[in-house]
Amino acid sequence: MGRISQDTVNRIFEAVRIEEVVGEFVQLKKSGSSLKGLSPFTTEKTPSFYVSPAKQIFKDFSSGKGGTAVSFLMEHEHFTYPEALRYLARKYNIEIEEDEVSDEQMQAASERESLYVVSEFAQNYFEEQLWESEEGQNIGHSYFKERGFTDETMKAFHLGYAPSGRGKFSQDALDKGYSEEFLVKSGLTIKRDSGDLMDRFWGRVIFPIHSLSGRTLGFGGRVLRNDKKTAKYLNSPESEIYHKSKILYGLYQAKGEIVKADKCLLVEGYTDVISLHQAGVKNVVSSSGTSLTVEQIRLIRRLTNNITILYDGDAAGIKASFRGIDLILEEGLNVRVLLFPDGEDPDSFARKHPQHELEDYLKEEESDFISFKAKLLMTDSKNDPIAKANVIRDIVQSIALIPDEISRDVYLRTCSQIMDMEEKVLYAELAQLRKKHLDEKNKRNKSEQRRMEVVRDNVPPPEALEVAPDAFLSDAQDSLHYHQEEALIWVLLNHPEDVIRFDAEPDNPENKEKLEEPAAVFILEELAEDGFSFENAVFQEVYSAIVKAYNNEEPLPSGQDFARSEDQRMSSMATDLMTERYALSDWKRKEVFVLDRIVHLSKFTIEAVLRFKVCKVEKMIQDINDAMKEHKVEDVMGALERVAKLTRMRNKINNRLNRVI
Ligand code: CTP
Ligand code: MN
Repeated sequence: MGRISQDTVNRIFEAVRIEEVVGEFVQLKKSGSSLKGLSPFTTEKTPSFYVSPAKQIFKDFSSGKGGTAVSFLMEHEHFTYPEALRYLARKYNIEIEEDEVSDEQMQAASERESLYVVSEFAQNYFEEQLWESEEGQNIGHSYFKERGFTDETMKAFHLGYAPSGRGKFSQDALDKGYSEEFLVKSGLTIKRDSGDLMDRFWGRVIFPIHSLSGRTLGFGGRVLRNDKKTAKYLNSPESEIYHKSKILYGLYQAKGEIVKADKCLLVEGYTDVISLHQAGVKNVVSSSGTSLTVEQIRLIRRLTNNITILYDGDAAGIKASFRGIDLILEEGLNVRVLLFPDGEDPDSFARKHPQHELEDYLKEEESDFISFKAKLLMTDSKNDPIAKANVIRDIVQSIALIPDEISRDVYLRTCSQIMDMEEKVLYAELAQLRKKHLDEKNKRNKSEQRRMEVVRDNVPPPEALEVAPDAFLSDAQDSLHYHQEEALIWVLLNHPEDVIRFDAEPDNPENKEKLEEPAAVFILEELAEDGFSFENAVFQEVYSAIVKAYNNEEPLPSGQDFARSEDQRMSSMATDLMTERYALSDWKRKEVFVLDRIVHLSKFTIEAVLRFKVCKVEKMIQDINDAMKEHKVEDVMGALERVAKLTRMRNKINNRLNRVI
């Protein structure tokens, strides 16, 4: 798919009412000029989540999150930036224009879009059959009911029923105008050699499979009776939208709970997910019968770093869990394991036990992967030293996969205790395995590098990044100049056009003449004079964008514009600085309600500029002094002169500052 055009992005932001978007997820009540509700990101009891319809932003004081409607969807629904924009475009009926799409991309995108449409139709169709047709009620609904699923649960997972006429679904879909091409491509319809169309799913209960953002991607269909001849489950075949290895069943229903619990439970089957969900354990997903893949783990990693594998206590379940454990460790996540008693799966266990027993079981039986492996592997070989050595090697091999050194250390110590083995010996083994890993990785990287070089030669170099990504690492809020810089950016974002009044000749106190200019212009001219820049990379980016617009005589970008940025650091910074509370507390301190606004904005802005400058000059003096102390300066006389000049400058600014305060 192409990139959504800037024009479309602007039209989406103009159409969106943040209160409507947030209102679908959070109950909001009027509170002054804002709306207020309980934070959806924490479990607070008193509301501290605010939405400002005027500014089109939200601020959650309990988690600190804030931003536009798009940021909200990214936080709450875990959409990517384009996913959030597409969601809003659908909601507000805005056509999406995309930049620079090739014909093939266009075709692929419209093919995917068509498959989504067909799948959504099918989901609705199967649900309608379940709830409204006689066959669906008698067979499908009563099957689910017999398994203990409530109506509410069936609805939450959009469970359905495929009628037993073998071509009924396909015929109904064609009659409704859905094209044969996409019915076949989605796998819902099978075209015989004779040209006849047949339904893939008939006489089965249906489990729709959703993406993280809730789009229907495919289906699983279960036979109603267990007989050996027919496969118990039939699934959609791979298609442009359904990639089994990149999907987790139940993720859409579980994502909020996974974040809240900061943990994801991983089970084997559709019904395991559903039964646990119904029993109140909702942070659960399933890899649906396939062995866990790296892509699936990365989906989970968007939500949490902690995975607990829940598997049947049979041999196959245990073996599957071993592979899963190593894969999860290798991706840098924490893994715990929980086995159910032999013959039970999470579904049957959840149905046989009341909720508190289930919760206790989950809490108590969960173990870290070392104890789990040790316990399992040691059972048949209690006193056999060779067997013990093999178990230890097996465990250390898993530990060696963990990318983070500190975690490796912690696990190694645990292993040493559990296995009653000297740490020194284990470290030696670990070091050897790590070296092997690194060598293999280097080899892989080298060939990767060669490939990259070939690619690079054929591609024009990317434009130099204006801000190196690493620069963001030093953006701690307690950085020396943070507050001085923030005050200036606050003025630029909130009052760029407001006029301020200042001395025509600030260094000459005799001259009482005053000039007036928009606050933003005053700041830009004052800073440009001395060539100062911002230490904080996000602030610097804002500043550069404003300077650029000013130099090109374009309208200056506002706080709103920055809040719309795809870069969430930018978006949340802009929102924070536009938030009522920040502004109010600051203005209150300056008693703005009592006195004239111009006087106060002028005073605030001039003071902010001068303090900013003093900071910068002092830092420059400090740097030169430090360099001299460490004997890193060759031209000592020159350096001393610079220090003297800077000191004069600082004194001058301080004099101005004293006159303002
Ligand atoms: N599965 C599949 N095809 C099969 C059997 C299983 O795709 N023929 C997948 C399904 O996603 C299923 C999962 O593997 O949910 C686990 O299989 P199993 O434990 O046999 O099924 P359950 O989910 O326990 O289903 P039920 O309780 O209805 O027997
Ligand atoms: Mn089962």
